[in-house]
Amino acid sequence: MSEIYDIPARVREGSDSPLATLDGWRAVRERTANDPDGFWLDVAKRRVKWHREPTQGLEGSFHTIPDGPIQWFADGTLNVTESCLDANLATRGDKIAILWEGDEPGQVRTLTYRELHAEVCRTANALKALGLQNGERAIIYMGMVPEAAIAMLACARIGAIHSVVFGGFSAEALRDRVRDCGAQAVITQDEGMRGKRTIPLKKVTDEALEGERGVKKVLVYRRTGGDVDWVEDRDVWWHEIVPEQSDDCPAVIVEAEHPLFILYTSGSTGKPKGVVHTCGGYLTYAAYTHANVFDLREDDVYACVADVGWITGHTYIVYGPLANGATTLMFESLPTYPDAGRYWDMVERHRITVFYTAPTAIRALAAQGDGHVTKYDRSSLRVLGTVGEPINPDAWRWYYDVVGEKRCNIVDTWWQTETGGISISPIAPATPTKPGSATLPMPGIFPVLMDGDGKRIRGPGEGRLCIEFSWPGQARTVWNDHPRFVATYFQHYPGMYFTGDGCRRDADGYYWITGRVDDVINVSGHRMGTAEFESALVSVDAVAEAGVVGYPHPIKGQGVYAYIVLQPGYEPSDAIEAELHAACRTQIGAHAKVDLYQFVPGLPKTRSGKVMRRILRKVAEGEPDKLGDVSTLADPSVVAAIVAGAKV
Ligand code: WTA
Repeated sequence: MSEIYDIPARVREGSDSPLATLDGWRAVRERTANDPDGFWLDVAKRRVKWHREPTQGLEGSFHTIPDGPIQWFADGTLNVTESCLDANLATRGDKIAILWEGDEPGQVRTLTYRELHAEVCRTANALKALGLQNGERAIIYMGMVPEAAIAMLACARIGAIHSVVFGGFSAEALRDRVRDCGAQAVITQDEGMRGKRTIPLKKVTDEALEGERGVKKVLVYRRTGGDVDWVEDRDVWWHEIVPEQSDDCPAVIVEAEHPLFILYTSGSTGKPKGVVHTCGGYLTYAAYTHANVFDLREDDVYACVADVGWITGHTYIVYGPLANGATTLMFESLPTYPDAGRYWDMVERHRITVFYTAPTAIRALAAQGDGHVTKYDRSSLRVLGTVGEPINPDAWRWYYDVVGEKRCNIVDTWWQTETGGISISPIAPATPTKPGSATLPMPGIFPVLMDGDGKRIRGPGEGRLCIEFSWPGQARTVWNDHPRFVATYFQHYPGMYFTGDGCRRDADGYYWITGRVDDVINVSGHRMGTAEFESALVSVDAVAEAGVVGYPHPIKGQGVYAYIVLQPGYEPSDAIEAELHAACRTQIGAHAKVDLYQFVPGLPKTRSGKVMRRILRKVAEGEPDKLGDVSTLADPSVVAAIVAGAKV
């Protein structure tokens, strides 16, 4: 029923990967089914530099997970920075590791592997001098500067656990994360730069840390030279402490299951949870998937234009590419600054070969017309990736036809913060593609579709996407809350990891992600919980209740639709809307914006008082005629009012 795209010749040619053909993929997949331990141990030994090589594969299973985290390579010891840095010195010391493009076009900095190694060691020594120790946590709240990656690696060098917080989050959101992980240090910068606008990162950090006693030191990188307040004895300038350190810093050797980082992500309920990834398994999976999905070549210029504040930046800007000795781009600015040609201008100037972005950017740029693309030379491109949300076939075709001139393969990569790395995706030289499908699972990933009755769907069908066997890159736990980890991912379908996504499988076994089936919404590839919005909105005095859902949005994928019930005595007004906006901004961040408000007399509830979110969703999706069974409604007149006043 849908078109199939064959792999362009130049993508197939010159690949020496065992996964370079579909037959190769099948053979490897079979091995991962029959001998997962043997397979992953081989990958781990090939791709990661160990201090003590592991002899053990997986310990535990999705059945035993309530009793304690799963382990991979448990008897191995390592320091991930030795794979990312030291291991590359001999053969690639002068190769560019990080290619940074700043806010202004052509504002470029490069760090070779040798330079990056030295800088990470100096920074690690500085962190030690500031008192940060093995196992302690450091929050990184920065923009897209090389120092963000350096800070991550410097933490890892000394065994400290980093938690990067996206620079768009507010002071309150930052404080929640500082508290939850018990951070001892924060690493930030004076200001971020994006599209000529400055982002007051140090100021927000100061606000977040007011009264917080746990954070002893704040290391501040100077990016813009803008004015900042200074807390004596706590704040330290990067340029005053880092350069004077020795560039020799022996890596602290840790066990494979030592936590590498915590990354907070939104779920259905409550506050974001701190997803924990550990050193050995995560790095193995990051390096393996990065090398194979993109079919990495030694002379590639690889550009992932995500932000290090999200998992994509962790795995596919920093850890995967550096473990593979690649040249990885870090991009500080926006796709539309100074105009919609910025990405392709960079492709031309840097001769980028692999380019990885999100559907929302593709849609926004496609809407600006082809001229911004065609005026630049894109002949260097070989692989084009997308991630973060379902890509609609129109946007896919535009990426393929216009950006890639039909010469590149598109890899639509499905994965999650929790999976650590790409889980369902084409392998660039091997997998024929279908616009809108993430195609086939990675070796070692065994997807299962479950129906509404908890039964496994075989063959073609649509259901809830689960994965039935562990892989090294999977999250191990939620920081300080293993029961929440178990309840969120492993209780819906015993013995399986539940992704929260809906998915269809076609007759060719291709997977088509349909979007979240829980109360997570995905706005421009940013994952947000409706519960977080609701808690911000009800904090406004005028508001009695709030119900938030996603609705289809042509550029952002999903928009945010908020139903607001006001307290008696209040009338809807622009002033109240402004207050609601401000509440989301201060409690979550600048990227948390409600697109549509509808003031309603009440929320649709069952007689037992449970909000019927399905009704809120259907109305916001413009399908008020498909509300389904409403017989349990306490007050049908509420629904009539909601339908009558719908904003779509
Ligand atoms: C969605 C981002 C369709 C999905 C790496 C998932 C996708 C959530 C795709 C995870 C894709 C990610 N096609 N949907 N290629 N990639 N998603 O944790 O709903 O920020 O569950 O990780 O994004 O978002 P997260």
